[in-house]
Amino acid sequence: MSKPLQVKVFRFNPESDVAPRFDDFEVPVFDNMAVLDVVIYIQNYLDRSLSFRFSCRIGMCGSCAMYVNGRARLACRTQVSSLKTRDITIMPLPNFPIIRDLVVDMEPFFDKWKKIKPYYIPKREIDAPVTVQPESNEREFIDDMLDCISCGCCYSACSMVATNKDYLGPAALNRAYTLIADKRDAIRVERLKAVDRSYGVWRCHTQFNCAEVCPKNIVPTRSIQRLKRRCVLKKFGIFK
Ligand code: SF4
Ligand code: FES
Repeated sequence: MSKPLQVKVFRFNPESDVAPRFDDFEVPVFDNMAVLDVVIYIQNYLDRSLSFRFSCRIGMCGSCAMYVNGRARLACRTQVSSLKTRDITIMPLPNFPIIRDLVVDMEPFFDKWKKIKPYYIPKREIDAPVTVQPESNEREFIDDMLDCISCGCCYSACSMVATNKDYLGPAALNRAYTLIADKRDAIRVERLKAVDRSYGVWRCHTQFNCAEVCPKNIVPTRSIQRLKRRCVLKKFGIFK
């Protein structure tokens, strides 16, 4: 049997603890074990008070994002074997308020989404369905950026979010781009105005930290670059 994992887990209950701490656990290794299995094992057999969030277990709901060995990851999609070490440190996602242990408060993240109205609004004058052609460049690019599961990994990795609490952040801006690029949307000009601000697209310093950690291989930096280009076109009256 292979050596057990040595797991350090961040613990903090803001209601009762003066300061955070790390607890150490020894966890046996199973075949095809994911990081989510590690925390579930700890909760089932070693410490029932450990708090964390998960739901789908297949990389679809985005709720199990954690900071594992120095990087934001989906716990359910991160195989222990991929970490290439027996020593695992698990922490809550940076840049979010901590509710308890590994559970973070997603409200500031979703407040940013609300600001960009993350839903499609059809134009009134269009009475028949208008499609974005599947083979068009527009469709090709939007398609890649539509797979966001709102996990918050990019938001936690963004150094601009860390230094400016008003910055809309990579996920909300990526979503804004997918709507602004869609010519059927009724408020795309208004949407563009909403992101054309110092706490919008212009706060991004093109570091690609968001893209590095996105479990869906989305590149929010690229969407933000395209938004910047459209903001400039708008200034010259070219974007309509
Ligand atoms: S863009 Fe990627 S990392 Fe960011 S919230 Fe969406 S899926 Fe998660
Ligand atoms: S549990 Fe749903 S993405 Fe991991």
